[in-house]
Amino acid sequence: MIKKLVLSSAELKQAELTTLSHYDSRALQFWEGTREHDVSQNICALLESLPQNRALDILDLGCGPGRDLIRFKALGHTPIGLDGSHVFCEMAKRNSGCEVLHQTFQTLELAAQSFDGIFANASLFHVPRQVLPGVLKCCYDALKPGGVLFCSNPRGEGEGWNGNRFGNYMELDVCKMFFEEAGFDVIDHYYRPEGLPNNQQPWLAVLCRKNR
Ligand SMILES: C[S@@+](CC[C@H](N)C(=O)[O-])C[C@H]1O[C@@H](n2cnc3c(N)ncnc32)[C@H](O)[C@@H]1O
Repeated sequence: MIKKLVLSSAELKQAELTTLSHYDSRALQFWEGTREHDVSQNICALLESLPQNRALDILDLGCGPGRDLIRFKALGHTPIGLDGSHVFCEMAKRNSGCEVLHQTFQTLELAAQSFDGIFANASLFHVPRQVLPGVLKCCYDALKPGGVLFCSNPRGEGEGWNGNRFGNYMELDVCKMFFEEAGFDVIDHYYRPEGLPNNQQPWLAVLCRKNR
């Protein structure tokens, strides 16, 4: 794993396109392999941090084939998906009946103050560090005041290619630095899977709030 990469704009684009082609080419296998994954701990963590008395506007950022859109909708909320894989966008629309935006993280265009919560489950780690501040700023601006961004990502140090997917792996201190620089307050974090020793918990979940 290379630790500090300086990528040209062509390499940044390539990181995005190659990663998305990987998901496009394995979309059905991904759906079959992950549709039963239990991420209720993550869904509950986001919902518990937000108002309890109304339906919430939620962006599922990197929604994949739509498993969590289905869940948010069944709980009475108003989720919208977003993914850079056109195959996943079509699957997510079909599977959930929700609106799904076909956008990439490096070219996000989100309306200001439109979401109570953003759920980024296993997705934002595909953003290279160089462009992560811009992506987080866009998420920050898209949240309503008091809104919360949830992220769950594989832990580690450094960034680089893992097969055909580009990944940026961060521990809590580095995550905090990026979120706080974007204006967020980090309000909670935990490691997954639940109930294992920390060295057997490869996932780090972080919740951060927009306070202005
Ligand atoms: C590991 S999958 C997680 C999918 C889903 N959130 C889940 O928990 O099953 C990563 C997702 O991020 C999307 N993704 C990766 N890079 C992206 C990019 N640059 N722009 C938009 N979506 C991207 C992929 O298409 C895929 O749906």
